[in-house]
Amino acid sequence: MTGTHQSPAVPSPEDFERINDLVTGHWKSQAVRAAVKLCLADHLSSGGLTAEEVAHRAGSAPDTTFRLMRACVTLGLLSADGEGRFYGTQSLAALRTDAPGSLRGHVLAVTQEAQFLAFSRLTDAVFKGGTQVEAVLGTDFFTYLEHHPDQAREFSEGLTSLTTNWVGDAASVINTTGVEVAVDVGGANGTLLYLLAEKNPTMRGIVFDRPNVLEGARAERDSRGLADRIELVGGTFFDAVPEADLYLLKFILHDWDEESCVKILRRCRAAMRPGARIAIVEVIVGEITDPGPGSLMDLNMLAVVSGRERSLSEYDTLLMAAGLRRISVTEARRSPQSVIEAQALCFPSETGVT
Ligand SMILES: C[S@@+](CC[C@H](N)C(=O)[O-])C[C@H]1O[C@@H](n2cnc3c(N)ncnc32)[C@H](O)[C@@H]1O
Repeated sequence: MTGTHQSPAVPSPEDFERINDLVTGHWKSQAVRAAVKLCLADHLSSGGLTAEEVAHRAGSAPDTTFRLMRACVTLGLLSADGEGRFYGTQSLAALRTDAPGSLRGHVLAVTQEAQFLAFSRLTDAVFKGGTQVEAVLGTDFFTYLEHHPDQAREFSEGLTSLTTNWVGDAASVINTTGVEVAVDVGGANGTLLYLLAEKNPTMRGIVFDRPNVLEGARAERDSRGLADRIELVGGTFFDAVPEADLYLLKFILHDWDEESCVKILRRCRAAMRPGARIAIVEVIVGEITDPGPGSLMDLNMLAVVSGRERSLSEYDTLLMAAGLRRISVTEARRSPQSVIEAQALCFPSETGVT
């Protein structure tokens, strides 16, 4: 050893185990997907069942259902007795349809075909310097979703599912006092906006997204009884966004390259009412000695879209390029996201910048 960071020459058995665990990650994630598609958590919610009984309820083949369920024992999602009956564990309960903050939607989104195929080109993306998603999907991710409504629904539900666990955290940081209208830019199902609207009963809001995703936003809005205060507007944030006092940009900028981010921010800035704020919700990447979960999310952005996760100073650079300045940054307490708030340096009418 010549330096403190040099690897030892002989890997230990634990190292082999660790590598094996890492490279079989897709076996596990696809097994969890299958478990969700078969609704194992719901079928086993009131007691043990044999694989044959589950197959009968799920409409799947008995032998392969047995093989999946046996693997789920190894994964800690199920336990089994000596008589061929399987039981759900506490972890499996997180996948029940009716569990508060159920991760069912998140599992379906992360493991869906579009994202799985995109990840098959991660190595190419690293060699070539950017996403190779078009080689497998024939187009960019969001256009692909437009033509695959089932996967688009999974994607929005996945964000709702993940957001349900994180959104309270983000919402607790965003102050809506004095806000008449807030826009959830690229809001998908609009969950963050709805939560803020529920906390502030005089605030109105707009979910702004591509027209094909607004159906999910409508269902969620109506089920929360917010139809009288929340409007749904279809469009592209590269052209224009509605006028408002507060812009929510949750997991938007990380989908895009620098030029596109500046364009989105400029569209917000051009539409801002005097004194309006932008609240950017993202996972900020830490220093390389401790980059945190943002570094893996970053690979997701590389494989699937043309974006990246960024450091705080990289967000500052984007803001400055769009004529905005950061006024605060707050880490959420129970999730890895932060809320960066920004305001216009001065208003478009004063500079002519659009
Ligand atoms: C990663 S999702 C984030 C959704 C939501 N903000 C959340 O955190 O749950 C990105 C969203 O941007 C939307 N989007 C993509 N391109 C868009 C465009 N050109 N104009 C408006 N929305 C767009 C997608 O449809 C999707 O809902």
